[in-house]
Amino acid sequence: MSAHGPATPMTAHRSPALRGQVDSPGDKSVSHRALILGALAVGRTQITGLLEGQDVLDTAAAMRAFGATVTRHGPGAWSVEGVGVGGFAEPEQVIDCGNSGTGVRLIMGAMATTAITVTFTGDASLNSRPMGRVTDPLALFGARAFGRSGGRLPMTVIGAADPVPVRYALPVPSAQVKSAVLLAGLNAPGATVVIEAEPTRDHTERMLRGFGAELTVEDTPEGRVITLQGQPELRPQTVAVPRDPSSAAFPACAALMVPGSEVTIPGVSRNPTRDGLYRTLVEMGADIAFENPREEGGEPVADLRLRNSGPLHGVTVPPDRAASMIDEYPILAALAATAQGTTVMRGIRELRVKESDRIDAMARGLEACGVRVEETEDSLSVHGCGAEDIEGGAQVQSRLDHRIAMSFLCLGLVSRRAITVDDASPIATSFPAFEALMTALGADLRHGTR
Ligand code: S3P
Repeated sequence: MSAHGPATPMTAHRSPALRGQVDSPGDKSVSHRALILGALAVGRTQITGLLEGQDVLDTAAAMRAFGATVTRHGPGAWSVEGVGVGGFAEPEQVIDCGNSGTGVRLIMGAMATTAITVTFTGDASLNSRPMGRVTDPLALFGARAFGRSGGRLPMTVIGAADPVPVRYALPVPSAQVKSAVLLAGLNAPGATVVIEAEPTRDHTERMLRGFGAELTVEDTPEGRVITLQGQPELRPQTVAVPRDPSSAAFPACAALMVPGSEVTIPGVSRNPTRDGLYRTLVEMGADIAFENPREEGGEPVADLRLRNSGPLHGVTVPPDRAASMIDEYPILAALAATAQGTTVMRGIRELRVKESDRIDAMARGLEACGVRVEETEDSLSVHGCGAEDIEGGAQVQSRLDHRIAMSFLCLGLVSRRAITVDDASPIATSFPAFEALMTALGADLRHGTR
């Protein structure tokens, strides 16, 4: 079963060259943050380009439950009337964050320093993911959390009535944990400090500054030290959400898999904390141009142009690049299967606690498609078969994980025999137009198992 209804299988068949332009969706990370910070500002925030995927819609519903007025005016055009820092009302119902780890972790942070009690739940994927990484630092502010064993949802969080600011060194490289701590710090008096040894995506820092918070970032020998002054009055903003480099990765890598393809993807975020995949593609020999670099909505963006001008070669992706491409390993693993030589991905332990265990999901799925892989707790190696020699012919489990589903549907566009994913419905969490946009490029995607 899928998250929101019956499983919907989808099958990808070997396709002709992909050609055309893709208007890929708005950035999921920025969309969640725009809604949450909009809800914490005083006045009306306007958002354009909001991702209307289920994850973000669940966050919009949550912000309404906390008392904000969230209105859709047209495709991607939304407004949020905020209640101010510390102004969240206690929701009357359980907050259901669906499939979204980002949604639940950021919202837990945002409510943890207000004296309200909130119960959170999600789908089977989200309810199996660790929340202790967020509730541990939130406890330092004075919040208390009661969940299932292993710190899992459903979970009730009692916000701190008299929060104290914290200084917290992240034990895992996680933008969700960093953001939860910063959002909690908004309603604590004094300076909250987060230290990250490895830089993770910095949308929360950028947007907090944009909304008028006093936030400094210092590079030190212990890492990036982020200091937020608590209890600011956040000013409403106009937020133009850039296009998501993690979603653009699917048509981009599909173009690099299918011989003869040429695809452009305008306006994709080039935020340096998100661009690891694109650096890796260049190292693999991809013909990729970043045209018209510019700034949109406080984020650097460019138009991507990709040409498939022959096979790519395997590379070793260093562990220190993992945070900047953490969501792109599934599609990179699929692409690596079509390359010549071996691609080694190291330092990727965090993939085991995403929407699924992505190392296991990719390894089992690739093996079923005739690709040789090796895995350790912290790494995955894929032995490339070349673009024309992937066997395919498998039914792969998407495990309630949108990126696993999209990765195998892209691989099926080049494999000898079609690849079916047992349930494509999770794709709607981040990329509702995936099928339509890929089909418009020439991809042969069909509903069902053939
Ligand atoms: C996200 C952070 C990452 C990423 C997720 C979005 C965010 O998770 O995988 O898709 O928006 O902060 P982690 O914080 O668990 O690395």
